[in-house]
Amino acid sequence: MNPAPRLEALGLWARRGAETVLSDVSLELRRGELVLLQGPNGSGKSTLLETLAGLIRPAAGEILLDGESIAGLGADRVARRGLALVHQERHLFGTLSVRDNLALADFGRRPTAGMDSVDATLESFGLERFAATPAGLLSGGEQRLVALARGLRARPLVALLDEPLAALAGGLRDHVLKGVRGMADGGTSVLVVEHDGERVGQYADRSLMLRNSTITEAVLPGGLR
Ligand SMILES: Nc1ncnc2c1ncn2[C@@H]1O[C@H](COP(=O)(O)OP(=O)(O)O)[C@@H](O)[C@H]1O
Ligand SMILES: [Mg+2]
Repeated sequence: MNPAPRLEALGLWARRGAETVLSDVSLELRRGELVLLQGPNGSGKSTLLETLAGLIRPAAGEILLDGESIAGLGADRVARRGLALVHQERHLFGTLSVRDNLALADFGRRPTAGMDSVDATLESFGLERFAATPAGLLSGGEQRLVALARGLRARPLVALLDEPLAALAGGLRDHVLKGVRGMADGGTSVLVVEHDGERVGQYADRSLMLRNSTITEAVLPGGLR
């Protein structure tokens, strides 16, 4: 693994309305590592991901992607540089097959980036058996898995996942995490916000805690690595 930092946030400040949610938050994500981010409700985890992804303009601070500033660029341009924020709710085309939904992954991504084949994506997320099924016939959890696989198919440099396991059944949780681990092993740096830290900890390299605007290195819950 190349230890050079892929994503660095330095002294970030961010507001939501009148409220200062992030004050002087710093964080570093190295290439190909999968990092769990936890913290109490309302501590600013989602705000941090949205700020890194350019959806919220930081009031102060710097964000570097492979050493280049992306702070204030705007979500569109940040996405095209290779940083993907994967939301929970991603709409699928209900009448199209899972395969066809995955094939639609390539808009708004790095123009130069390679893309995994649809077959490889189906396999790494355990979706082979649904390939020909219209997405609208899958359960809510299965649809979320397809949406996640679609978001990651373009192999972003950095993937920020906000509670990807919420409301997923246990078996699907492991499919998601195996797929995400495979992405990290392929070089994508992944930051996962998740309540089910025990489960994520089995796949993650490191664990961080956001509390009172301070990020600290935490013990990896249930970690085996
Ligand atoms: N859309 C919003 N508008 C205004 N304030 C918000 C919004 N979303 C979150 N907040 C506030 O920002 C703070 C951090 O929220 P959030 O980033 O969602 O935390 P977390 O994801 O850790 O639960 C909370 O005090 C919350 O009330
Ligand atoms: Mg949140």
